[in-house]
Amino acid sequence: MAQGALMFLSLVDRDDMWTAHFRRLKPSLEVRVFPKVEPVEDVSYALVWKPPAGELLRYPHLRCVFSLGAGVDHLLSDPAFPKHVPLVRVVDPSLTRGMSEYVVLQVLMHHRRQPEFLQFQRLKKWQLLMSPDAGDVRVGIMGLGVLGSDAAEKLRPFGYQLAGWSHTRKSIAGVESFAGMDELKPFLQRTDILVCLLPLTPETRGILNRETFAQLPAGAVVINAARGGHLVEHDLIAALDSGHLKGATLDVFQTEPLPESSPLWAHPKVIVTPHLASFTDPRFVSENVVANIERIERGEAPHDTVDLSRGY
Ligand code: NAP
Ligand code: GLV
Repeated sequence: MAQGALMFLSLVDRDDMWTAHFRRLKPSLEVRVFPKVEPVEDVSYALVWKPPAGELLRYPHLRCVFSLGAGVDHLLSDPAFPKHVPLVRVVDPSLTRGMSEYVVLQVLMHHRRQPEFLQFQRLKKWQLLMSPDAGDVRVGIMGLGVLGSDAAEKLRPFGYQLAGWSHTRKSIAGVESFAGMDELKPFLQRTDILVCLLPLTPETRGILNRETFAQLPAGAVVINAARGGHLVEHDLIAALDSGHLKGATLDVFQTEPLPESSPLWAHPKVIVTPHLASFTDPRFVSENVVANIERIERGEAPHDTVDLSRGY
């Protein structure tokens, strides 16, 4: 019988790449690509990105849901998500490395004033601008989980003053730890370059807002590589236009793809990238999925599960 099949469901990821890796790693695993998944009774595993609301309830024998990303907001925002089924997210060195590259790149871009030099180049203007010493630049990372803590480690050799804000207190060499809502304000007040790497949950939605920006020192920069739902876009534009914020890098947006009509595209102080700060590489992550399926088939618990009570 075919029970034990893996359903692949994503409108943005290439199913042929994933199926090729699964064929190589576990030839006995039947992979069905949505919407050709009938009979639904056969489907034990679902590897998904933004499934239609309620879709996962249609599979009575589901044993595990795998998110195609590190974030699971695309699943848990659906009130019909089957909460009795374990949810696994992507935790993989390749994805972590990619995000740290992006964070280091963007922090350096702003610290070394690259957006201004690019504008001068367009004007053929030879203009010297000094950058502060890295030891005088205070970088603050919201979210010190898998991605935030690695980004902090990778930033450390540059000599920045590093801090992180998380739900629980952390002990990371060279990183001042701030925890909980009570310590958000002092964290923001000491932060020149704010990096958001939080999961999107009801508690963190809209956290990059007018009040948050007002706590940052004048001339601060905001880098959002987490989720568009963290940022109140018009509050950011207002803070940039007033001159309080000096710049921003945005990889994620309330609406993706970012509509042509968005003022963010042409804003002179904003760097836009198309939600690729880091990505799930099927070469590596297919191995994690197969290892977890084999664990489940041996009666063991899968790794990298999400705590559904916390939402991340
Ligand atoms: P993670 O390991 O779960 O870490 C999340 C961190 O956020 C933890 O340190 C957690 O604190 C903290 N946190 C959660 N809720 C909080 C709250 N209410 N107040 C303060 N801190 C809070 O997640 P991750 O793997 O680092 O990934 C983070 C996010 O990055 C993902 O959820 C996803 O949205 C985003 N992402 C974006 C891209 C992209 O290409 N743009 C790629 C991958 C991931 P504790 O440690 O104390 O629990
Ligand atoms: C990408 O956004 C992810 O959550 O991995």
